[in-house]
Amino acid sequence: MKVPFLDLSLQHRALRTEALAALAATYDATRFCLGKDVEDFEKNFASTLGYARVLGMNSGTAPLHVACMLAGFGPGDEVITAPFTFISSAWGINYVGAKPVFADIEEGTFNLDPAKLAAAITPRTKGIIVVHLFGQPARMDEIMAVAKQHGLFVIEDCAQAVGAKYQGTPVGVFGDVGTFSFYPTKNLGGCGEGGAFVSRREELLTKARHIRVHGSDRRYYHDIVGGNFRMDGFQGALLNVKLPHLATWTARRQAIAAYYLAGIKLADVRLPDQPGYGKSVFHQFTIRHPRRDALREHLTKHEIGSDLIYPVPLHLQKCYANLGYGPGSFPVSEKAAASCVSLPIFPELTDAQLEHVIARINAF
Ligand SMILES: Cc1ncc(COP(=O)(O)O)c(C=O)c1O
Repeated sequence: MKVPFLDLSLQHRALRTEALAALAATYDATRFCLGKDVEDFEKNFASTLGYARVLGMNSGTAPLHVACMLAGFGPGDEVITAPFTFISSAWGINYVGAKPVFADIEEGTFNLDPAKLAAAITPRTKGIIVVHLFGQPARMDEIMAVAKQHGLFVIEDCAQAVGAKYQGTPVGVFGDVGTFSFYPTKNLGGCGEGGAFVSRREELLTKARHIRVHGSDRRYYHDIVGGNFRMDGFQGALLNVKLPHLATWTARRQAIAAYYLAGIKLADVRLPDQPGYGKSVFHQFTIRHPRRDALREHLTKHEIGSDLIYPVPLHLQKCYANLGYGPGSFPVSEKAAASCVSLPIFPELTDAQLEHVIARINAF
């Protein structure tokens, strides 16, 4: 039995008629950049997740960049994030000329360790980018306590955690800004690039709205330095079709994860922790094993897809060689990178496929 790591075609085939009708309406109305579809999506996304207001943007990297601009980070400033994440969590820090500083993760959840975060703070620290990795909320109470103590600007990178709850509240509104990605492989994926910016702070929303369109409120008048961070109409149209299904898809991801958590019995395997404060949306289901590469080979032999997310932590990436870190700087992240393997988890996986994955893992 074949089990792909991810198959987006199943979801898109099921929604094909509705999706193409929505895209055709946008095409016919030539609503290509922002416009009604995006405005509708912003309202729908806000009401689905309970946010005050949402701004659609053109990737998940875009709102991180905008948030770093709004925070006023700049040369000489340090901004802390985790080294075990997608590179884009840190890019915004570089875009505004500040310095990324890393703090190690916790072993159980792959998320920023509040004690390591506190230890990384210096007089130059201006902010924190918290990543809710693999759909699992980070420890926001402890992280916000550190931020408050030092007066830091907090950005929550929720690219992988749409709808994930921390103490019952969807992530994105604990810090100053929350950011989302609608890259096609995400839990809520568009038909191209897309992202969103959320905040409880009205003045940040207003400024972000202007930054999104070249720093302007009125055409050809530019009060602040901005850029082009607009979501396009097709993304808004498709996301409006998909959003009503998000709760069902998330519940299915959570059910698949429960299957894995209960069924995987392989010796020496480390399953992801499920701390009581959070409810993961399982963008990934990532396990660790000391013989990870051999386990992957075994899965491939049985036609089961898997992925290495992430094989190299940020502090060991070439682009960050100038930061002065090296092997051993962040042992928990390095151990995760060396031992983790992500298993198939998407809503359309069948129970038979899941049982097959579990049986083959347990037989390794
Ligand atoms: C944790 C994290 N942050 C940021 C991003 C950036 O999103 P995008 O690819 O939409 O720019 C991603 C997505 O790939 C991500 O996984």
